[in-house]
This record gives sequence, structure tokens and C-alpha cells, in this order.
Amino acid sequence: MATKEDNLKAIISHAKEYGFVFQSSEIYDGLSAVYDYGQMGAELKKNIKEYWWKAMVNMHENIVGIDSAIFMHPTTWKASGHVDAFSDPLIDNKDSKKRYRADVLIEEHIEKIRLKIEKDVAKGIKRFGDDFDEEQFKATNPNVLRNQTKIDDINARFKAAMDDDNLTGIKILIKDLEIACPVSGSKNWTDVKQFNLMFSTEIGAVADSANTIYLRPETAQGIFVNYLNVQKSGRMKIPFGIAQIGKAFRNEIVARQFIFRMREFEQMEMQFFVRPGEEMKWYEYWKEARLKWHLSLGISKENYRFHDHVKLAHYANAATDIEFNFPMGFKELEGIHSRTDFDLKQHEKFSGKKLQYFDPEINESYVPFVVETSVGLDRTFLAILSAAFTEEKLDNDTSRIVLKLPIFLAPVKVAIMPLTRKDGLPEKARDVLDLLKFDYNCQYDEKDSPGKRYRRQDAIGTPYCVMIDHQTLEDNTVTIRDRDTMEQERVVITKIEAILKNKLDIREVLS
Ligand code: GAP
Repeated sequence: MATKEDNLKAIISHAKEYGFVFQSSEIYDGLSAVYDYGQMGAELKKNIKEYWWKAMVNMHENIVGIDSAIFMHPTTWKASGHVDAFSDPLIDNKDSKKRYRADVLIEEHIEKIRLKIEKDVAKGIKRFGDDFDEEQFKATNPNVLRNQTKIDDINARFKAAMDDDNLTGIKILIKDLEIACPVSGSKNWTDVKQFNLMFSTEIGAVADSANTIYLRPETAQGIFVNYLNVQKSGRMKIPFGIAQIGKAFRNEIVARQFIFRMREFEQMEMQFFVRPGEEMKWYEYWKEARLKWHLSLGISKENYRFHDHVKLAHYANAATDIEFNFPMGFKELEGIHSRTDFDLKQHEKFSGKKLQYFDPEINESYVPFVVETSVGLDRTFLAILSAAFTEEKLDNDTSRIVLKLPIFLAPVKVAIMPLTRKDGLPEKARDVLDLLKFDYNCQYDEKDSPGKRYRRQDAIGTPYCVMIDHQTLEDNTVTIRDRDTMEQERVVITKIEAILKNKLDIREVLS
């Protein structure tokens, strides 16, 4: 049976083979946690961005989109708290000289214990079949209970140490758990230190600290500092939202799991500005709206869950993650945060400029509260790719790999194929291509047998293949093959556009 790790490996290798994702600078052995999107990946990514923008900006009268710069005045990051507090606890192994996130070492240790519980459960299922009661087993089996107590104890100590910023406590926990370095096998650890995740560089020619600027670690601050510009120039009335899609940079210590955790990635964020006191209503609204957006991608509901934050960041009065069942398990896909008026008040304080909004309905000025939705574009890409990746057994004892992508996200919408490379079929096929290429991303493919060409298109998720054959020359009909059913229908050329238009209509999906 294929494990989750095997699945991830298969997806990574498929992504490389078909031009979705490449390791950055691969010819120099790659750059850790940095990836490039290839010819198919760039199309898929662009389509995801457009779909998000349509749902968040175009479908809402009171949300507009901006595109702010990556570089911002350094005081922005002082005000937001990132200079002082945007850090992870790190620890080095003195023998291997490898650096780890202390919290991740502990979480991985917990995961190992959790897997022991899963193993015991699997044994129970095997032994008792349909009569197996998992809940009762977990509540009574001595092995499971012992392991669950271990997990609870570690979690309690870990949480207490993190809450108190007690780095010594975290090191003691690592020692007590006898966690060894996966590379050297030794338990010879340094003290735990906080490590700021922001990348810095210098602006201009002089390299002194006054000129230090940062690559933004989130796109949100570009929205906060522009909120009055947008409100005034767009005559926006509260409640209103500002959205943006853009790159963010974090010097992640643990860089693994493909495009899940990258050092350079993209966020799709929206800050919703509301009247103070109304933030919880909007927080609940956006929680639901964002889950609905994910479900509109056609991935089944069981793959998503909310994970409410117990310990809130200093700026938040409510926060939740939408987690997705990635090939490596449930992990954060999107964050929804009620950020209070913290950021705007901080920017008022540090800039000395008033950032108040005059609310004509209640005749009052105030600093708005903000509810934020923040989803990683690359994580959305990985979620969609992994849900679409299907290995299918076919009737004739063969199999195919097909990407069952939502049609509106597929990189290539239609492949145009002449049956043979002679008898005027390529010319006729190019006429069909000319007809469609203005509206749809098409691929012309005349190499290899039709079967091989269909497999190639299945592998990149092309929903329709149009085959031009000898009958086409006689009556202007073609066959159009459906990716998922593999069924072919003969239609007149002039009908192809109407079929595609109908299938690509996202009205129903988005309403
Ligand atoms: N403005 C709020 C904010 O940045 P976050 O939870 O730190 O919140 C939001 O990030 C989203 O950005 C995450 O849910 C995730 O999808 C994505 N993200 C964060 N760090 C990432 C990384 N290193 N690589 C890829 N995506 C990342």
C-alpha cells in the first residue's frame, strides 16, 4: 500500500516531469525551500490567482484590489511587531552543525508517539474488522492510554514554555525527551535561541544599519499603510475590504515538504475594515465564506477542517486556520484572523499620522477593526494538485495518471490534434486552433499515436482533446474527448466554442 510519503514523492516527480514545479537553480544542486513554476505550473498558478481575485474582488462591490511594493519603509516592520517578535526558536546540534526549529523537533517527537497509537488502532481494525469500535479502543487500551498521556504531558510542558518565552524550558524538554539529531544521532545540543524570520538587505549604496530594509514577510502591511489612500480615492464606506496577491519572504529554518513551506512564496490576502464591535460578526462571515470558496474547487469536505487558535497572537481577539488534508496530513492552508485595531493603531503611533475613518452613519471617527483572510497561493496549488492527482486502472489492464483539475483551473483547456501528419489534417487542425486560441489556452499536438497524446494531456489535466480526422475534411465534424470519462463525441467545429463556454462557466460554482 502506498504511504503518504510515497504519494508526496509521486506528486513531486509528476510536477517535475510535466513542467509544473522545478527546484530553483537545480543545475547548481538547488536552493533549499525555493521553487520555480514551469510552463504548466505558471498557468495553473495564474488561474488560481484569477479565481481567487474574481471571488474576492470582482464578486464583492465593497472589496477592491491593490498591488503594493515588496519593499516598505523599515519602520513598518517595527510598528507591526515583526522586527521584535517575528521569530522561531532554533537549536543547533553541535556535532552535525545542523540547525533545527526546537518546536518542530518536539512536534515531530509527538507525531512519532501519535503514529504508535495509529499502529495500535490499525492492528485492532485488522483483528476485529467491522466490530471494531475505535473510540472505545482508544479510551480503554493500555498502550494507547499510556501514549496519549505522554503526548498530553509533552504538549502541556511545551505550551507552558512557549507561552512564557522560556527557551531554557524548551531545551530541557528536548533533553528530557532524549531527542537526537536525525543526522548525527547525537543529543549534543546548543541553547535555544530566537531567530528572526525576516530577510534583510540594504537600500542604496551605503551599507549602514540606517539603510537596512526587509523583504516583506506578509503582504498585509502594504494594505494597512494604504488603507486611507484607498478609502479616500475609492470613496469606500465601512465595511470594506482591500485585497492583494503578492510575494512574501520568510527565512524558514525548517525547509521541507516541497512547496508547502518555502522561503519565497505568494499570499492572497484580504483585510476587511469594520466598525469596532462588529468584528466577530465579520469573522464568522469570512470563516464560512472562505471555506465555501475552497469547497467550490470540488474537493470533498472531509479534506478541510477548522483549527481554532487557543493561544492568540498579541494583535488578535480570534483566529482560526483552515487546514487541508495534504499528502503529509492535515496542515494549515489559510489563516482567518480578527486583528482588532492593533496594526492601524501601531502605524498611527509610529508614523504620527491619523488613520481614522469618519463614519457618516453614526457621525463618529474611529480606527477601524480588521478581519483578515490570508491564504498561501503555493499551498492552494499543492492542495489542488494533490487532490487532482489520480492513478486510474483502466479496463484493458493498463493504467493512466490523470490530473482531475477543476476545468476552470486547468493549464490547457483544449488540445487540438490531427489524427495523422498528412492528408491536409494538420492544416485543418491549425484552422481549429486559430478559432479557439484567442479565448482558450490551447495546445497543438501532432506527435505520437492518439493514445499517447491523450495520456500526455491527461497528465497535465487538459479537460478536452479535439481530434481532426478524415471525416472532418468531408463534413467539418471533429471528435471531442472528455478527460474524466474518456468518452468521445462527434460535433461540428462551430459547436466546439459553445461546448467549452458552457463547461467553463463559473457562474454556478461562484454563486
Ligand atoms: N498576514 C497574516 C499571515 O501572514 P500566516 O498564517 O503567517 O498569516 C498566511 O500566513 C498563509 O500564508 C498561511 O496560511 C500559508 O498558507 C501561507 N504561508 C505562510 N508561510 C508560508 C511558507 N513559508 N511557505 C508557503 N506558504 C506559507
